[in-house]
Amino acid sequence: MSRLSTQHRHQIQSVLGACPLVPVISIQDPDHVVPLGRALVEGGIRILEVTLRTEHGLGAIHQLRRAFPEVWVGAGTVVGANQYRQAEAVGAQFIITPGVTAELLEFGLTAHAPLLPGVSTTSEMMMGYAMGYREFKFFPAEVAGGIAALKAFSGPFPDVSFCPTGGIRQETAGDYLALPNVKAVGGTWLTPQDRIEAGDWAGITELAAASLKGLGQF
Ligand code: 3PG
Repeated sequence: MSRLSTQHRHQIQSVLGACPLVPVISIQDPDHVVPLGRALVEGGIRILEVTLRTEHGLGAIHQLRRAFPEVWVGAGTVVGANQYRQAEAVGAQFIITPGVTAELLEFGLTAHAPLLPGVSTTSEMMMGYAMGYREFKFFPAEVAGGIAALKAFSGPFPDVSFCPTGGIRQETAGDYLALPNVKAVGGTWLTPQDRIEAGDWAGITELAAASLKGLGQF
């Protein structure tokens, strides 16, 4: 069986090390892409995860790469190899999946952009672990056991790190990040749809800055 390259591991570690908070972005209107990206970057965010849940996801990744070359821009909610390829083609610098399939784990080994596979069980982790993956998204974090589960994972998997996502909020992000096996946390609380629709970009900058400040980072 082939194994994940050291280069991919270092790339994912660099992404997760760039910023402790990962905004999960779903674009409903292409006109929102650049102002939203700017609002987050001005608030101190350095990683942008754009989901492919809407038809505007791929275009948004392309736009964000051009507009904000200083931050990491990747694709989220990637569920198949075809989407993985499409995201790479528009410049995604990392790929996040909500769960794992053997196909996606294999594809990630030789792809250009590194993969952060989503897991919620030890068995899924073992599938990825056997192929050399050591960084995972833990999703859906709150319903899959939250902080207690992450503490339990550190026993059998002492060399594995996580980016928990799903149900995490500004008030709980710090509790997750206090765990040694958590490198970053993700969530949609940084991109509230009501503020996006209202064009309240200053409000989004404030939310990002306040969320980072709550962690003592900004
Ligand atoms: C994700 O794709 O990571 C989640 O939808 C984010 O979950 P949240 O809305 O609970 O933050």
